[in-house]
Formats: sequence, structure tokens, C-alpha cells
Amino acid sequence: MLATQLLAPLYAAIQGGEQHQRPPLLLAPDAPFLAYIETGYALRACLEDRLQHDYLLQRLRPHASVIVGTLPAGLQPHSMLPRSPALPHFRPLQQISDTEIHDWLVQDAGLIYGELQQDELERYFAAIAPFVAPGGLMVDLGSGLGKVVMTAALSLPFRRCVGVELMAYRHQLALQRCQHMLALNGQQLAQLPPPLQHEQTLLLPSGASMTLAHLRDLPQRLAFIEADMFKVDVSAATLVFLYSTCFGPLMPALAQKLASELQPGALVSTTTYPLQHPAFRILQHFPAGTLAWTSVNLYQRYGDWDGSAAAPLSYGADPAEWEARARAELAAR
Ligand SMILES: C[S@@+](CC[C@H](N)C(=O)[O-])C[C@H]1O[C@@H](n2cnc3c(N)ncnc32)[C@H](O)[C@@H]1O
Repeated sequence: MLATQLLAPLYAAIQGGEQHQRPPLLLAPDAPFLAYIETGYALRACLEDRLQHDYLLQRLRPHASVIVGTLPAGLQPHSMLPRSPALPHFRPLQQISDTEIHDWLVQDAGLIYGELQQDELERYFAAIAPFVAPGGLMVDLGSGLGKVVMTAALSLPFRRCVGVELMAYRHQLALQRCQHMLALNGQQLAQLPPPLQHEQTLLLPSGASMTLAHLRDLPQRLAFIEADMFKVDVSAATLVFLYSTCFGPLMPALAQKLASELQPGALVSTTTYPLQHPAFRILQHFPAGTLAWTSVNLYQRYGDWDGSAAAPLSYGADPAEWEARARAELAAR
């Protein structure tokens, strides 16, 4: 049996997550992301007061290399920063340290949401299929609404596919979308003409020859965890997926974590940024515009890494060039 007819409605059910409404973060004394909100309020107050623009640029400029775009996403109109009044202990920017600003910018970039399109993911999974051994564990670090995790479980013969997402509401949306897709899968399987034999061959678009059990077992093959990716052990993973386009400043820490935890032979794929670490060798580089709008890299964990750390990478813009762009954007407000 060809899987195309069964898979097409399931793929269709998990598209469009990039258009979801971003709810404002909760502002309460014990809310998660409180430190992020406090620094965000301090930066936004300067942005909204023309007289403070020079001071804002002066504080942001040393961190230009970790800013995605010109003015950070958290200061844009669609930001998730709440609008409710500041808590009494919130400090102005003058009292916020450079380290706090740096950490805020790194977190702000990581929280930007985007998804690869279905055709990009189809090309991605077809391209990596020859490297993927059946029965492994796929992990998406920063899994958002779960599209890549579910596409992986549908497209390739992974035993299990797991998404790890920091933001509670994104994790909840992933669970909802997964339930919806699984219900559709159950309905489709129930409508197949009897006898329904789970040994029946199912030829996946990636070329893998499976049985109907690939779809019957979908509920057990999928899992979503709400957690910080740096606190989740991925040592059993055989493929770690990173849509790392906004993770530039996190790449050295991610590379170090993956080098320490993954088994020799495990695969890692990144977008936009390389995984620059002696524990990994590059298997394939797909330039921007081939598999996806941005570049995609596929790496494999070496067996003989000696434990040395990676040379630090520099990411992002030159401070002078960033400041010129930021001044122009502020002047146009
Ligand atoms: C660009 S989105 C990618 C979503 C998904 N992987 C995809 O490709 O469709 C990056 C996601 O990483 C999440 N994220 C950022 N930092 C994280 C962390 N420390 N732990 C877990 N998730 C994180 C963000 O909340 C966001 O949902």
C-alpha cells in the first residue's frame, strides 16, 4: 500500500503553526520569564521615549552580535511582553547590568517562532533518509507547535519522536495539534477495508518500506515534553533536529551539550548556523535555497573525540553596522 493517500491529510493537519496568536507572557510575582519581562520593560521604556534612544543604542551596541535583525523581536509590536503596569520592584535600564541585557537578547532571539514549510520538510526528510537507521529516537530541541516531530514520525521509521519546548503555551498547542492529527489517523485507519492487517506493507514517500503498524503505533511513537532543552538528557537520540536559525549565540553551548551526551554515530541537523565542534563531522551541507530557504547541515557524532572544547564562534552583526541600521529604524518610528 502506498502511504501517500493516508499521509496527505495528516501532514495537512499540522501546517500553519507559524501563524498562531502569541499570547502575552503572564506578569505575576512568581511567573516564569519574570527576569525576561523586567529587562524587556526597561528596554521598551527607553524605546518609547525619544530622549532615551541614544542611551538605548549605547546599552544594546556591545551586544550587537547576539541581536537577530535590527531592534530585538521582544521590542517589536508583536512582542509577547505584556502591557500591564510594571511590578513595583522592576528596575529602569540604568540599573540593569550588561550581563542581564546580553542574556535577555539571547533568550529573546531563541523565543522567536518560525516553522519550515511542508515542502521544505519533505525535501529535508528525503535527503536525510539514507542516513537514518530504522528504529531510532528523533528529538527536536525547541519543538514549538510540534510540526517537525510529527512530520518525522510520519515520514521516517523512527521508533520514537520527541519534542522539547520551553514555552508552556507552545507545548500545549503541540499537544492539541498532535491529538487532532492522531484522531484523524485513527479515523482513516478505521475506514480501511477489512481485514486490516498490520503486517500489510506501507511504502513511505522517503522510500522506507514499513507496515501499517507504522501508523497504528503513532500514538506511542510521539511525545512532547515542556522543558528547557539544556536540562533534558538526549543521550539516547539518534537524530537531534535544531531549527537553529535564531539560536546563533546558543550554538556553542548546544554543541558542547550534544558532544557530551550523544553516542558515536548519532546525527544532528542544524539550520543557518554550523555545529562547530571537534566531536562532529559534517555529512552533508545543503546551501540556502536547496532544501529550505536557509542552509541546512547534517552532522555525525565522531567516535574518537578527545573531550576538547570547540573554538568560540562569532555570530551576528558588526556593532557599527548594526548601530547604523538601528538608528535608521528608530528615526523612522
Ligand atoms: C524557531 S522555533 C522552531 C520550532 C520547531 N522546531 C519547528 O521547526 O517547527 C524555536 C523554538 O525553540 C523554543 N526554545 C527556545 N529556547 C528554548 C529552550 N531553552 N528550551 C526549549 N525550547 C526552546 C522556542 O520557544 C521556539 O518555540
